[in-house]
Amino acid sequence: MSTADTRWWRHAAIYQIYPRSFADSDGDGVGDLAGVRGHLGYLRDLGIDAIWFSPWYPSPMADAGYDVADYRDIDPVFGTLDEAQALIDEAHAAGIRIIIDIVPNHASVEHAWFRAAVSTGEFRDRFHFRSGRGEAPPNDWESIFGGPAWTRVADGEWYLHLFDAGQPDLNWDHPAVREEFDDILRFWFDRGVDGIRIDSAAMVAKDPALPDFDPAAPPEPHPWNDRDELHELYRRWRRIADAYPQPKALIGEVWLADPLRFARYLRHDELHAAFNFDFLGCPWEAKALRRCIDETMAAHATVGAPATWVLSNHDVTRHVTRYGRAETGFEHALRQTRHRMPADLALGTRRARAAALLTFALPGSVYVYQGEELGLPEAEDLPPEARQDPIHKRTGGIDPGRDGCRVPLPWSGTEPPYGFGGPGWLPQPADWAARTVAAQTGDPSSMLHLYRGTLALRRSLPGLGDGPMEWLDSPDGVLAFRRDGGFVCVVNLSPEPVGLPAGVPLAASGPLADGMLPPDTAVWLTQE
Ligand code: NOJ
Repeated sequence: MSTADTRWWRHAAIYQIYPRSFADSDGDGVGDLAGVRGHLGYLRDLGIDAIWFSPWYPSPMADAGYDVADYRDIDPVFGTLDEAQALIDEAHAAGIRIIIDIVPNHASVEHAWFRAAVSTGEFRDRFHFRSGRGEAPPNDWESIFGGPAWTRVADGEWYLHLFDAGQPDLNWDHPAVREEFDDILRFWFDRGVDGIRIDSAAMVAKDPALPDFDPAAPPEPHPWNDRDELHELYRRWRRIADAYPQPKALIGEVWLADPLRFARYLRHDELHAAFNFDFLGCPWEAKALRRCIDETMAAHATVGAPATWVLSNHDVTRHVTRYGRAETGFEHALRQTRHRMPADLALGTRRARAAALLTFALPGSVYVYQGEELGLPEAEDLPPEARQDPIHKRTGGIDPGRDGCRVPLPWSGTEPPYGFGGPGWLPQPADWAARTVAAQTGDPSSMLHLYRGTLALRRSLPGLGDGPMEWLDSPDGVLAFRRDGGFVCVVNLSPEPVGLPAGVPLAASGPLADGMLPPDTAVWLTQE
């Protein structure tokens, strides 16, 4: 980790750890910080620059930790604050930066403020409590997880929760809320954390009138999405980050349809980067991908911000499965219909390998969600009683929810728990023996080998990471572009093999056939 790298978020490869499912050191079936500390060597060898941790705070786990009861501590199931400090220090010594999840939109029903709000009425103004309309909730908003966005407390008032009832929304018009989070940011930055991932970053501010939803209004801005007040908040957080001598990154989870409204969050004095969900949801089709890449680059260029490239995370169907289906795009609203659409995992894997080469060659930073380096598919056969995602519960099981991408990682061995620790909090499929880290290590045809090799190349080639790209002429269904230093990436999404431009292959996602690039295959070339 070079301290001279003052803008590391512009090019970093960032690995997302979902702590419950990474590695379990004490055998209770839930991953923990000691499990991460025991695998820092694995992450260093994978060639990543930073880890982003999904929430590790004390939480009743109504939404797997995205319901935070105390923003300045660690849940006992994961470990202690001292262990978090040791992990931060050890990661730094291994050259890895640490990003933590900050959840400002909502807290937990177990948060001290909310407990007081319910029991004594104190602090109600730090949340959105309202009287109902007769017996009905204060407005017609629906929870993103299904069902109403309001829950009633014993004295008859209602509180707002855009997500689960266990996640009461905070009132960001209240100065105490703003001051509290300023302090939380400093608390973690003082401990050496290098950046924050801001959960639901565009939803935090609400129209104070809390009006009914207007179906005729444009999607953005919206009474609870993309409100102008947010920009002042992120400018303040940017000043907090910039006051540190070490570079601290602010990375937003910003779900917006309009790329230019999205880019406003990335102006020079606001967030450093934001997740590119357009790319993540994009179907495996050359035209759609090229349009997405062009729009992404153009929108980021308006503010001089680096793009981010993400294929999977803890909220979406794993891309090996998505890319093996007839419909390869992702939308939350479509999960319930696409779930169980037949998936050809061999095809999905071939495409996922090509997608890794595409993603790692694009300008900006990249994210790797734990397990994608092992080519894990979505675990689709989880029994309903094992599912824990509130989306599954709140939709009465119509939407399977997100558990299928959260299954504990397979490290070694031939049967569950595959070296994870205790029997996992979600059951692991019986056919993952060939997907363990141990089984893939040393196998040149494995996904792990491909990730290690291409991440190492990405680091060493000066034209990759941040910087310009230029499309090359290519046949229909083929993406080809050049980066500085004579680097060329070609991805064949057409059904036929295609010829290659001149150059020496540096890496390929699959075997080349007689110098031709087969379908669903990508290659990196150098033209030096
Ligand atoms: C986005 C997170 O990625 C997701 O897992 C969570 O359920 C919601 N925000 C609510 O915190």
